[in-house]
Amino acid sequence: MAINDLYEKSLDTDKIKIPLTKITLKEEEVEAVSEVIRSGWLIFGKNVKIFEENFARLIGVKHAIAVNSGSSGLLVALQALKVKRDDEVIVPDMSFISTGTACMYLGAKPVFVDINLKDYCIDVSKIEERINRKTRVLFPVHYWGHTAEMDKICELAQKYNLKVLEDAAEAHLSTYQGKQLAGSIGDLGIFSFTPSKPMTTGEGGMITTNDDKLAERCRKIINFGDYDKFDNRILGFNFRMQDINGALGRVQLKRLAQSINIRREIGSYYTKALSGIQGVICPVPRTETDTNYQIYPLRIDLDILRCSKEEFMQDMLDQGIHCRTYYPAFHKQGVFKELNIGNNYPNAELFEKSSFVLPIFPKLTASQKEHIVKSVKKIAERYIR
Ligand SMILES: Cc1ncc(COP(=O)(O)O)c(C=O)c1O
Repeated sequence: MAINDLYEKSLDTDKIKIPLTKITLKEEEVEAVSEVIRSGWLIFGKNVKIFEENFARLIGVKHAIAVNSGSSGLLVALQALKVKRDDEVIVPDMSFISTGTACMYLGAKPVFVDINLKDYCIDVSKIEERINRKTRVLFPVHYWGHTAEMDKICELAQKYNLKVLEDAAEAHLSTYQGKQLAGSIGDLGIFSFTPSKPMTTGEGGMITTNDDKLAERCRKIINFGDYDKFDNRILGFNFRMQDINGALGRVQLKRLAQSINIRREIGSYYTKALSGIQGVICPVPRTETDTNYQIYPLRIDLDILRCSKEEFMQDMLDQGIHCRTYYPAFHKQGVFKELNIGNNYPNAELFEKSSFVLPIFPKLTASQKEHIVKSVKKIAERYIR
């Protein structure tokens, strides 16, 4: 079986002709991983080190610390920021589940803020009312690879003496206002390299920061809190990246910029082709580079179309196109039930009810893109009220 088919196989149903995503692995990755295996040097290896150095250089930060998943990175970053029992961490009501749960491992509470319907990231106008004396961290998510309003977030952090942790899990090479890169703006940033992301190490993640002390704390936490052999001064665990994953990352990183360029071309193609269609709403980036189109979230206007998004997605599947919800709102998830978080998150609810993501990956062919656009158009026309 071709390497590229492995991930797709796990998604395959008889109907899917165009998968949501497809990873690109080449012989160079096979060679790099094989070399690690041949060397017998599986942890604390040179590949992780090179990957970290190159990643830091690319993002424009002083330190990059590789970890075994983006979610581990979130937990480590929050611990490095000294989040503890009964502290509060402000997060948007919609993200991947570990953004919401990470602080709970430290006994802290996630406090949710609704998203805005302009860029689908945290609604910065609603953050201040959620800040109180227990708040420690503002934790924006660069959802769909699009950077949150970092100016306002950093301004609030300064005003209330809070730390900023960027969930840049999806935002490799996304800019803020066309300039700074995601993951280089807050006190700390984290990235994910799980296979759905623009580059992959299998499982894996990276923590980024310009702060020497925070970087050192993260390094200790990912390695059992070791300061020296048998000198464990702070609580830590094994969150280290293995060298096999580091080898994948080192090679994949070389193709990241090129692959993001293609994603941006596909994103612009979709928007150009779909924005005139009645009943569908395309995402609008702040600037061309403020998203990397890690995903392409399409919304349907429920006032104009007389179908649910599930029906729309089913019709897309009947055309051989895989679409998916990305993500459900947090406040309805059972894991947060006991936190008394209320249910006043109208935008996240509407977004969940009306949005799904279209396939986007560098190997999407011209005819596949055309088929996706034609299908959206045909289905929307069928459901116009
Ligand atoms: C926004 C966001 N945060 C956190 C994560 C967690 O990353 P990982 O799957 O590498 O643990 C992901 C990805 O899955 C994500 O999309």
